[in-house]
This record gives sequence, structure tokens and C-alpha cells, in this order.
Amino acid sequence: MKVLFLNGPNLNLLGQREPEIYGSMKLSDIEEMVREHGQRHGVEVVFQQSNHEGELVTQVQQSVGDYDYVILNAAAYTHTSIGLKDAIVGAGVKAIEIHLTNIHARESYRQTSIIAQACIGSINGFGAGSYILGLEAAILHNKAND
Ligand code: DQA
Repeated sequence: MKVLFLNGPNLNLLGQREPEIYGSMKLSDIEEMVREHGQRHGVEVVFQQSNHEGELVTQVQQSVGDYDYVILNAAAYTHTSIGLKDAIVGAGVKAIEIHLTNIHARESYRQTSIIAQACIGSINGFGAGSYILGLEAAILHNKAND
């Protein structure tokens, strides 16, 4: 199984960006942790990050055929991007939404996810653990739908 972790705007700043909210791990630290977890379960893990909405749309479209699942932390585009939601639906991608923080316990503008309805399910609020749980969700979903 091959899984793409797609990371949206400002997640390249993890580690220095509001660490009291997003934690002290850099995206590269999370990537290493998730890649090791994947190896233990025979899953190939690839990480990508972009600050550009259109680039994320292209990555979702291009994942078809190359990846079994896309695990998506769309960051701020979660709350705004109809284009990203349409890409998941239009390309027929099996996507899982993840967030470091519990978006439902934050500002009202973060409490709506436009992409959620296009995803198999959502995990949020477990810090870097949301990435591990996202991978576990993909593994479980894959087994259940084999
Ligand atoms: C986030 C939550 C978003 O609201 C925010 O814009 C982010 C990160 C999270 O992982 O908690 O950039 O997706």
C-alpha cells in the first residue's frame, strides 16, 4: 500500500509556528515518525507540502493510480477550498482528513470543513498523533474493503 500525506499552507512552518497550538515538531520530524510507522506496517509513505491551492488540487488529481490513499491536512484551505473538495470527488480519490488541532474547539471559521464531505472520515485534535491515526485509518479501511 502507498499513501500520500498532502500538507497545505503554513505547515512548512511547523516547529516555529505557534508551538503552543501546533506543537514543537517540524513537518520533517512528523514525516520521519510516520514513515517509520508505515515501514512497520508495510506501507510506503510519501510527504508533500504546498502553500498553493492549485498545486494541492494538482497533487490530488495526480495521486490517482500512484497512491491508494491521500491523507490530507489541507490547513487553512480546509475551510475555504471548494476546488480541493471537487478535486477529491472528481478524481475519485480515497481521502482522509487530518488536523493537528481540534478544529471544532477553535474559532468559528475553523469549525467548518468544506473537504470533509469528500473524505472517508476525519481525525483532528491529536497533535502529530493525528498523522499516525490517519495512517492507521487508511490501513483499517484498506483491510475492510479488500
Ligand atoms: C490545521 C487547522 C487549520 O484551521 C489551520 O489553518 C492550520 C492547521 C491543523 O492541523 O490543526 O493551518 O489544519
